[in-house]
Amino acid sequence: MNRTRRIEALQDLEPTVEEFHASVIEGLSAPRKTLPCKFFYDERGSRLFDEICELPEYYPTRTELGILERHAGDIAALAGPRARLVEFGSGAGVKIRLLLRALREPAAYLPVEISRDHMLAANEGIAAKFPGLCIAPVCADYTQPFTLPELPGNEFRTTLGFFPGSTIGNFTRDEAISFLRVARNLLGKEALMIIGVDLVKDAGLLKAAYNDKAGVTAAFNLNLLRRINRELGGTFDLAAFRHEARWNETLERIEMHLVSMKRQQVAIGEKRFHFAEGETIHTESSHKYRIDGFRMLTREAGYEPVTVWTDDQELFSVHALRTA
Ligand code: AVJ
Repeated sequence: MNRTRRIEALQDLEPTVEEFHASVIEGLSAPRKTLPCKFFYDERGSRLFDEICELPEYYPTRTELGILERHAGDIAALAGPRARLVEFGSGAGVKIRLLLRALREPAAYLPVEISRDHMLAANEGIAAKFPGLCIAPVCADYTQPFTLPELPGNEFRTTLGFFPGSTIGNFTRDEAISFLRVARNLLGKEALMIIGVDLVKDAGLLKAAYNDKAGVTAAFNLNLLRRINRELGGTFDLAAFRHEARWNETLERIEMHLVSMKRQQVAIGEKRFHFAEGETIHTESSHKYRIDGFRMLTREAGYEPVTVWTDDQELFSVHALRTA
């Protein structure tokens, strides 16, 4: 047995195909058709998302990485030694390495991620880089209730929550508050929470970030229909839908849609769905915040803002909060 191997058994709460099916039928039956963005991240979708992060137009990833590089030491100082690090939506595991490197004697790393195999692969890389670190993975949709694995014998002194990437922008304001309340209960009192939040900015820059020239975001959006075809026996013709990203000025959010290019019918099992020409499926919202507005939101959710960091151009913000 390899005694340095410290990856605990996976706590697997991956949404079932039945849950996926029920969400899709519900979303497509609504008067304004929608699909939940959390289902973007099958294997191909996770890979496409990693490609998006490298696009010249997609500024959030590299901007947030820059902020984290500059302030990893500050975060480590705020967290203190022997922190248990809980990451919501761990993805490819790039940002977490910055924190793990900066933290003093991190006690454990608990990634929570809906895309199971993507997370498990990322964990292998992290285990290789941080031998001896206890990794306790949870595959879950963190908008649903779940508990953190108990790690007997693993003594942690503090808890550090990490929710990077502005994934919180996928929630409406009210959903963000309820997520943060649930996260606060999960993390416990006096935990530090680090959240990456994309900022309101010039509409041209925002639209370009979700309408890249190479068409990766379009492929990522359309992949949801491909996944429905494959996993649920859907009959979507991918060539009859096109990607569109709109800036909703009033709600200060980017909305991704799939536009039906003609009048058509699509079957999923027994169910038939009708599309008018130009009708859309709303697949994702990406809310952008102002720094003060976001701090107010976190107060409502039971956090005390500690500090906030941004880049020179104020494209992106990283908030440090304390649970009350
Ligand atoms: C991972 C949810 C933060 O909203 O910017 C990227 C997902 N969608 N391009 C975002 C996404 C289209 C991304 N989040």
